[in-house]
Amino acid sequence: MQSALIVHSRHTREYAEKIAGSYKDVSFLEVKAPPGEEVLKIESHKDVIIGIGGGSVIDTAKIISGKKPCIAIPTTASGAAFTPYATIWKGEKISVPAEKPIVKIPDDLRIDLPRKVRQSTLFDALSHAIESFWSVNATPESIKLSKQAIKILKDYMKEGTDTIELIKGGNMAGEAISITKTNVVHAASYPITIEYGIDHGSVCGMLLPSFISYMDFTDLPVLFDCSDTARLAEFLKNSFESVHIEGFDHETMADKILKYERINHGPKPINRDNLIMILKSVNWTS
Ligand SMILES: [Fe+2]
Repeated sequence: MQSALIVHSRHTREYAEKIAGSYKDVSFLEVKAPPGEEVLKIESHKDVIIGIGGGSVIDTAKIISGKKPCIAIPTTASGAAFTPYATIWKGEKISVPAEKPIVKIPDDLRIDLPRKVRQSTLFDALSHAIESFWSVNATPESIKLSKQAIKILKDYMKEGTDTIELIKGGNMAGEAISITKTNVVHAASYPITIEYGIDHGSVCGMLLPSFISYMDFTDLPVLFDCSDTARLAEFLKNSFESVHIEGFDHETMADKILKYERINHGPKPINRDNLIMILKSVNWTS
């Protein structure tokens, strides 16, 4: 038997205890927030590091494991289990290189995500899939993955299928962005999350319909069974319960967003005026 550090969240503690029986000398680490700098200093002498939870949990496990084996059991659609980097927040968003973990989706895993978490992770995953689909870095492989991800996520939204489908769609979208990297929606989301403290997926959900309208990417609506861009933007807007940001500063945010080079890795260039217009089309105070 191997010794293990099991990284989990409040929601996944129970399942973490369940799998602990398969290891010896187990320690637990509860993640309460997206990883900050302090995670870089954590060392573990265990044989294997296991992360069970959403993006923050899996990124934390990936960072602690270093070169050691890391097993990821994703319970949200963050896609973090598929990327060769982890995100650290310290006044800005920093990507640190990390080995890709071994991904497991156990058959006995039952996930009941709180409504807000479900919405947030769904729109994070949709943004991954859509940004990958229209990325300047798209390859035949990434396009195939992003199309499959969109199909699963769309069916999940329209038919209310099992949460496991949301996770599968999110995983596939994660694989797609591990090839192309994210672009417009993500680039725009980071400064907003940092400035206003709104979680990553919720900011993506606020921004996504406006960027879809601006990009007007011909091949996209049909993947959602929509006849045109306007209908797709409307469908996504109606599927998302808005978050509220008081006094959103469009100009300052636009300047911060333009520092992220990937704002121009989408299908259409964006200048400062376009960006301000896009940010103004989002209803931040509803
Ligand atoms: Fe994301």
